[in-house]
Amino acid sequence: MDNLDQLVVEAETAFAAALDGTQLEQVKARFLGKAGSLTERLKKLGALPAEERRMAGAEINRAKGAIEAALEARRAALRGARLQEQLAAEALDVTLPGRGTGNGGLHPVSRTQERVEALFRSIGFVVADGPEIETDWHNFTALNTPENHPARSMHDTFYLEGRDDVMLRTHTSPVQIRAMMEHVRHYAGEQTMADVRVIAPGRVYRVDSDATHSPMFHQVEGLWVGENVSFADLKGVVADFLRKFFESEDLRVRFRPSFFPFTEPSAEIDVAFMSGALEGSWLEIAGCGMVHPNVLRFGGIDPERYTGFAFGMGLDRLTMLRYGVNDLRLFFEGDLRFLSQFR
Ligand code: DAH
Repeated sequence: MDNLDQLVVEAETAFAAALDGTQLEQVKARFLGKAGSLTERLKKLGALPAEERRMAGAEINRAKGAIEAALEARRAALRGARLQEQLAAEALDVTLPGRGTGNGGLHPVSRTQERVEALFRSIGFVVADGPEIETDWHNFTALNTPENHPARSMHDTFYLEGRDDVMLRTHTSPVQIRAMMEHVRHYAGEQTMADVRVIAPGRVYRVDSDATHSPMFHQVEGLWVGENVSFADLKGVVADFLRKFFESEDLRVRFRPSFFPFTEPSAEIDVAFMSGALEGSWLEIAGCGMVHPNVLRFGGIDPERYTGFAFGMGLDRLTMLRYGVNDLRLFFEGDLRFLSQFR
C-alpha cells in the first residue's frame, strides 16, 4: 500500500503549509475527517477478503497514527511560534533610561519678580500689594489725577459693568496710597514713624495690544517716604538696583525730565548697555519722581515733615531686556517651547 505512505507525506506537507491553528484544523479534515481520505479507505475495507482486510486495516491504522502524530507536532510548533511572537511584542528593555518626571519651572516674568523682590528686600524694602479691581479714587484721585485730568486718557482701561467707582487698575501706583495709609494707621498716636519702604509688584490693565503692549501686563512700584528722602536717594537706589538686576556694573542710567501727576519733579529712567545686541541705545525702563505733596496728604502723611520718592517699572520690559526677548506676547501665550527655555 505505497499510496498510504504517499498519503502520510501529503498530510505532512499540507500541515506544514498551514500558517495558523484555524488553517491547520481545516486541513486536518481533508485527511482525518468524516469524508477524509483515510475514512474513505476504511469504508472500502469491508469489500476485501478476510485475510487481506486484516493486513489492510493494520496498514491504514499505521498511516492514521503517523498523520495524527504529524498533526500534533504541527500544532505544537504553531503554539510555540505564537508564544515567541507574543514574547517579542511584549518585550521590555529594562536597560532603557527612565523617562524622568518632567520638571516644571517658573515663568520668566515670575523669575524677574522674585529677583526684584530679593534685591529690594536686601536694602530694607517690604513687599506690598493691592487689589487688581481698584477704586477710581485709589487709582486716580488720590494720585493727584482728578476727574477730567488729561492724564487719565493715557490710562484707558476696563471698567466694571454697572459700576463707575471701580475698574481694573491701570498701574501699581495705587498701592502707594494703600501702603501709606496702612503705615500711618500702624503708627497712629506715635511721635515718630519709621520710613515707608515698599515695593509692590503685580498685574495691571490697559486697553492696548501689539508686539510691545498687552492688555494685561506687570509693573513693580517702589516707594520710600521718610524725613530726609531726596532725589539723590532715588538716583542711588534705582541705579544700584538696575546694575545688580542686569548684572552689569557699567550699565548707564539716566534720568530724563518728564511729567506724572503724582510726582514733582518727575523723570523717566533710561538705561544703556555697554555690550550685547542693544549696546549703546537708550531704553526707557521706568517712571519716577519725588512724591507730590498732594499724594502724601491723600496717604495721610504730612508733606511739611516728610518727603519721598516713587518709581514704577515694567516687569515684562525688564524681563525682555534681561533675556533678549523681542515680543511681549510670547510671555502670555503659554507655549512650552518658549517657556521651558527659562527653566
Ligand atoms: N504709574 C506710572 C505709569 O504706569 C509709572 C510711574 C511713574 C510710577 C512715576 C511712579 C512714578 O511711581 O513716580 O505710567
